[in-house]
Parts: sequence; C-alpha cells; structure tokens
Amino acid sequence: MRLVLFGPPGAGKGTQAKKLQTKLGIPQISTGDILREARRQGTELGRRAAEYMDQGELVPDEVILELVRERLSQPDCRDGFVLDGFPRTIPQAEGLEGILEEMGRPLDRVVSLTVPDEVIVERLSARRVCGRCGQEYNLKTCPPRWDEVCDRCGGELVQRPDDRPETIRERLRVYKEKTEPLGSFYRERGLWAKVDGVGGVEEVFGRVRRALGIL
Ligand code: AP5
Repeated sequence: MRLVLFGPPGAGKGTQAKKLQTKLGIPQISTGDILREARRQGTELGRRAAEYMDQGELVPDEVILELVRERLSQPDCRDGFVLDGFPRTIPQAEGLEGILEEMGRPLDRVVSLTVPDEVIVERLSARRVCGRCGQEYNLKTCPPRWDEVCDRCGGELVQRPDDRPETIRERLRVYKEKTEPLGSFYRERGLWAKVDGVGGVEEVFGRVRRALGIL
C-alpha cells in the first residue's frame, strides 16, 4: 500500500505510521525524522533545515522534494510506504504526484488524523526525547521509569526545540495556512479518509485500520 498519514503537529502521525509499518511490512518515511537525523550528523542539509525547524517553519519545498525522491527510489519502497509529515504544501503534493507518476505507482490513500488544538498542545508539551539514543517518551502516556532519564541508555531526556509552547503555536499556524488546503487537493482525487485521532493509540489504530480496510 502507498499511503500518506496527514494531520497537524502532534496528531499522532509518527505513532500510527510506525504501527502501519509493523502491520504491513512497509517503511515509514518521516521527513521530520530524516531532517533530524541529518542535523544530528551535522550535514549541510541538517544545518540548513535546523534554522527552519527550530522556528516552527517549513523547510523549502525543493529541499524536501529532493530528499523524498531519493528515499522513494530505494528498493524497500517497491511494495509500498507510509509517508509521515509529507506532503505539507500544495507544491509538495504536486511534486509527489509527479514522482509517483514517473514510477507508475500512484497513492492508494491519504489518512487524515483530526485532533483539536488543545489536545495537540497537551501531547507535545509532554513529549521528551533521549538526548543520547533518541528514544521517545511522553510524560503523560508513556513516561520513563525514572524522572527525565532514559530507560534504555540512562541518557538525559530533553524537549524537542520545536515543542516549546510558542513554537507549537507557530507550527499550528503554519499547518492551518499551508498544509490544511491539501484536504481539498486529495478529496478531489478521491483519496481522502478522515479519522478521529483522539483516544488511546490502539483505539486510533483500530479506526485507521478500518479506514484502510485492514483487519
Ligand atoms: P515533524 O517531525 O514531521 O513534526 P510534526 O508534523 O510537527 O509531527 P510531530 O512529530 O510533532 O507529531 P506527529 O503527528 O508525528 O505525532 P507523534 O506520533 O509524534 O516535522 C518537524 C519539522 O520538520 C517541521 O516543523 C518542519 O520544520 C520540518 N519538516 C518536516 N517535514 C517537512 C515537510 N514535508 N516540508 C517542510 N518542512 C518539513 O505524537 C506526538 C506526541 O503525542 C508523542 O509524545 C506521542 O507519544 C503522543 N501521542 C501520539 N498518539 C497519541 C494518542 N493517541 N494519545 C495520546 N498521546 C499520543
């Protein structure tokens, strides 16, 4: 299956994409994760992207489209993929359409997770990441055993720079202005499936599976 998981920051795209990856045996492709990894490695891409990410702004379309084109050409994407956090603008959606047309492999579905702003702010404010190994926690739903210390490696847990309250607000603003219009783009193509993203992770996954017709 070739899927897009769509939704505002903190809607649970990454969480649900990982579950689909396991269930369907297809790779999760998160542009946010690719950019954060490039940043960790100190590459030119990572340095450039960091300036946008820390402000809650979008990285330029041409940079994103190039990295997605490269990733989709890899052999593990032959039998499908779950795109997470991409596309985020109309030019990105058009670019993706072009790339997939060239490959002769159109999208099957765009699953849109809907979550109100106040739930998003609550979820993102509670997210912590291990500064050493990158393991993710959530102080409300998936806390570490010891306060602010990674269960896996003992590293210190930190907040993503873009999970600060003022940056969350900016990410939501950018989402409404630049990303939400993609709803009409995919509805016109008959690919849109709206799913309520509020509730426990398994509850939401049940709704995602039903929207995709997966048992
Ligand atoms: P990115 O990493 O894609 O961030 P995002 O879309 O803002 O996504 P998040 O990871 O914050 O949220 P999510 O929806 O994946 O939710 P998650 O499952 O993690 O992008 C970061 C930045 O990179 C962008 O701002 C931009 O600068 C740049 N970028 C990336 N892609 C780009 C693109 N295509 N174009 C341009 N720029 C781009 O969950 C969030 C939290 O909620 C977690 O703590 C989780 O445990 C918790 N949670 C999840 N589900 C539930 C649930 N059901 N109940 C309770 N808690 C839950």
